[in-house]
Amino acid sequence: MRPMGIGSDTQRVDGLDKVMGRPLYGADRSLARMVYATPVTATIGKGRIRRLDTVAAERVAGVLAVLTYRNMDQLAPIAFSFAGGQAIQSHMPMQSPDILYRGEAIALIVAETSESAAEAASLVRADYDALPFAVELDATGHAEVGQAKAAPYFPDFVQGDAAAAIDAAPVQIEATYLSAPQHQNPMELLSTVAEWRGRDLIVHEGTQAAQAMKEGLVIQFGLNSDNVRVLAPYVGGGFGLRGSISPHTTLAAIASRRVGRPVKLTVPRAQMFHASSFRAATEHRLRIGADNQGRLLGGMHLVRAQTSRFDLMPYTGEETTSRMYAWPAYRGATTLVQLDCQTPGFMRAPMEMASFFALESTIDELAEKVGLDPVALRIQNDAKVDPITGKPFSSRHLTECLQRGAALFGWDRRVAIPGSMRLADGTRIGYGVAAGAYPAYITPALAKVRLNSDGRVDVSVGGHEMGQGIRTAIALVLAEELGVDPQTATITIGDTQFPPQHVTSGSTGAATISVPVRDAAIHLRNTLATLATQARGIQFDNTDATSLKLDGAILIGSDGRSERIADILRHHGLDHVDGEARGSAPGMKPDAFQQAALGKVAFSGPEFPNHVAFSFIAQFVEVHIAPRMPRPRVVRMVSVVDCGRVLSRRTATSQLYGGLVWGIGAALSEASEVDPRYGGFLNNNIAEYQVAVNADVRRLQVEFIDVADTVFCSVGAKGVGEVACVGAAAAIANAVHHATGKRIRHLPIRMDDLI
Ligand code: MOS
Repeated sequence: MRPMGIGSDTQRVDGLDKVMGRPLYGADRSLARMVYATPVTATIGKGRIRRLDTVAAERVAGVLAVLTYRNMDQLAPIAFSFAGGQAIQSHMPMQSPDILYRGEAIALIVAETSESAAEAASLVRADYDALPFAVELDATGHAEVGQAKAAPYFPDFVQGDAAAAIDAAPVQIEATYLSAPQHQNPMELLSTVAEWRGRDLIVHEGTQAAQAMKEGLVIQFGLNSDNVRVLAPYVGGGFGLRGSISPHTTLAAIASRRVGRPVKLTVPRAQMFHASSFRAATEHRLRIGADNQGRLLGGMHLVRAQTSRFDLMPYTGEETTSRMYAWPAYRGATTLVQLDCQTPGFMRAPMEMASFFALESTIDELAEKVGLDPVALRIQNDAKVDPITGKPFSSRHLTECLQRGAALFGWDRRVAIPGSMRLADGTRIGYGVAAGAYPAYITPALAKVRLNSDGRVDVSVGGHEMGQGIRTAIALVLAEELGVDPQTATITIGDTQFPPQHVTSGSTGAATISVPVRDAAIHLRNTLATLATQARGIQFDNTDATSLKLDGAILIGSDGRSERIADILRHHGLDHVDGEARGSAPGMKPDAFQQAALGKVAFSGPEFPNHVAFSFIAQFVEVHIAPRMPRPRVVRMVSVVDCGRVLSRRTATSQLYGGLVWGIGAALSEASEVDPRYGGFLNNNIAEYQVAVNADVRRLQVEFIDVADTVFCSVGAKGVGEVACVGAAAAIANAVHHATGKRIRHLPIRMDDLI
């Protein structure tokens, strides 16, 4: 391993700044004359505002405005992001007295201080005419829509006649799995600082989708594209929460225009549960058929997934489960269940987490039924080509992941009979395994690299730094191609002055951006070599990173002679040299860059013209369950991942740790609690919504296969951020089964399930 360059274990390039508190997140901006806005939210599940009393709120000292549907700007509508628009949902609150779900905004206080705004918010009184509502998958009044019919862009996944194949199989397993809704709960709250300068609107907000935010505001306010700029240099955790424009951003911009001053709007933690997207509640009906040796003959994965009344949020878990094994026949299909909630969206491995909990629990059950080791059963059924399209995988090292993981974990110590492994004090030990996969996507991205005559490198790229380490990955690609110290490059990111800032999600960021960054750096080097040859008449061809000494700003020729870059540039009257490149993917739609520039989603993958692409993982887990208090404790996890070539070892490892921690939370504690009497999500705080904390996380060990996938992209990296929480919950559930003999078919699994 070289000290610098792709794959090295360099510290985060923004790590020192972060521990020094230097990066500015959305709400960290404090502008002159800035004031504060706080939303007030609806307390019924559905209905209409009958009376709204804001008099007391308006009398609070320092209150500048109280906005409600009665005095609100009427905005041009923007469509839901997965219906061709830019918005987290098509419904914009406060445009009418109608309440479509508990927790939507009904008023906005603008005040000199956040304290005045909070006090005034507590004094707004609303009376409602309530309407019946449905917030659970089987509640009276829910509506169902076949996804493939309603949104043909998201087809069913079908190969052969799965029902017939399963019916004829000697071994059959059928079970239904449930998963609770969940919320992302990043450390950084949703927060915006909005400022108007004449007709120009400037928004500072940590977002995963600066372009969507910008273009959404342009449409809502009827502005020209160059009137709006969004800056998102840092994001304090995305996880899908910030994948397009949410209502609070628009409210901040309206408030700022109304009072003629910059406005800071921070959504309180309690309101976060209704202010943006969340992970949908789901039901998975799994059927598999196999022969007596455990060879799969057919699979069926039928999903019911929550959406809102007004948008069809696609659910594509079967896109991945259908690719997991060599299914001779398969059928995957989704039914969307319309409920009275905000539109659900993306949360780390949005569809794959629960889908693989269902699939990999079923596979575990099959292994037990046919008496085969669950690792061996998975390897035996590993797919050689895509069962749905017959295309090859761009790369697939799942069997290596399983074998390596089993060795690292000590899987051979497992005694197969459930409940047979114990500690001396009677604590039951469970070993569980599961596999996982996550689609590999590429999105439109541009990169511009500038080498200044003093050797400093500036780069502007499309992408967002959510803490995942995209800046570090970019810096390591630059180090590889330009020999630049990764800690010194200036990286501009998440700024709509350099479009397109396509949504960074779906584990696309680092792999997507590494290709144009590398190509731009190579163009720059070639240009520099040409300029040097023209200036000095010496051949500077065949430059590579080792021909550049950027600390001394020197270019070394093929004959060993060196020239100062400043002199070369001065000869041409220049003080810098640029390289620019755009990334692309095979089969990328010709209008992908235009779509991205309009703030719309433009993903390519996981199916490409000549291959399909996924990241893969094998998860091994040990749980302990004490005799009297049967609370499952995950004492260690061992995971081996195939994410192609590792760009930044430090941050990729950290992504894997994070994904595993999320897997622990999903398996054992995280649920947004729904009460059919009240609507909304009631445990809307991080005391009662329990994420996994340090005490829940013991030993995590992760390893990379680290084989470049140059079929997927020229740099060879696939996604890493989400695959780590695919299969993790299933491995924990399988370990719980191994410890107790109980097969729990819902998430989360809690103590009361094991009493
Ligand atoms: Mo991620 S849930 O794809 O932002």
